[in-house]
Amino acid sequence: MPSAAKQAATSSIEHSHHYPPADQEPAKSSLARFLWPSEFETERDRLILGNGASELIDLVIRMAPRGTWRPGPFYTQYKEYERSARNNGFELLPFAGNDRANVACLVNPCNPTGDYLELDELKAWIASNVLPGGYAIIDESMQPWHSEQFREHSLTSQREYVEALYREQGISVFVMHSWTKLWCCTGLRLGSVVCPTAEHMRAIKKIQVPWSVNTVALAFLNAVVDDTAYLRDTWELTPLWRKETVDRLQSLFPDWVFHGRDFLSWIWIDTRDESVAQRAVELARAAGVPVRSGGPGYNLPTFIRVAVRHPAKVDVLVEALQKLR
Ligand SMILES: Cc1ncc(COP(=O)(O)O)c(C=O)c1O
Repeated sequence: MPSAAKQAATSSIEHSHHYPPADQEPAKSSLARFLWPSEFETERDRLILGNGASELIDLVIRMAPRGTWRPGPFYTQYKEYERSARNNGFELLPFAGNDRANVACLVNPCNPTGDYLELDELKAWIASNVLPGGYAIIDESMQPWHSEQFREHSLTSQREYVEALYREQGISVFVMHSWTKLWCCTGLRLGSVVCPTAEHMRAIKKIQVPWSVNTVALAFLNAVVDDTAYLRDTWELTPLWRKETVDRLQSLFPDWVFHGRDFLSWIWIDTRDESVAQRAVELARAAGVPVRSGGPGYNLPTFIRVAVRHPAKVDVLVEALQKLR
């Protein structure tokens, strides 16, 4: 967890006998400045914070036009969108079909598969998968790992495109972020969504439970956006540590298949054997360096998802997995 922001969060307990600000300020403007360093004043009215992205996923899907729902083009993706669509009575379409949907949700980069679409591919996917009047929800929670230039590659930078799509086809594009990953604060609950227009933002606010983002989380966010050293380390170290981990595991297990873009903070691995994957999960957990099974949730039991971590932790993992050989 970034330390200055952790300190700000801890100090904010002192003010927690008050309600948090209902307008989420100044944290919301600080996040807007982080997303759009020069245009934040014109963009911030499209932004709203939530109690984790999970709250906002649920709110946007509740607001969405009813009918069909479809996931992104990858064989699996983070399941919260599907769960929310099912709970709200949508007809679920498969990822591989050609039918446009009333609501289409794409996780980019895709957790867990590690696939990533560049902006032109993303726009082409929206064009051929969303019905006029529909919603496209693009989850960019893992996109800021891309590089220092992440903003230029993000859909958040595409205001004119988003406006034109809404004006010409009534398609509403939402860009969802969970901030609990990049800034290691899952317990604090922090997410945001960039709406196509300020009216969409106000419509979400209308159905959002008041004060859903608490004082501590707002204080954390307000500070963490200024921690440039933390992000510089993230951009520098993640690809190095990732490559090192892939190389070490690949040389131990030449049959395993490693998926995902170089900049990502996790590795999606097909061990090609369900019992090997299960044993890997058990061994890693026992060694104190847990890896996630692709079985529960994704129903891909030969897969495991390994986090990119400091080389000392990888030593422990490699040592534990030696027992598989
Ligand atoms: C792609 C993606 N989006 C959203 C979330 C939800 O995050 P949270 O509710 O913690 O902000 C997650 C959590 O794993 C995720 O992987």
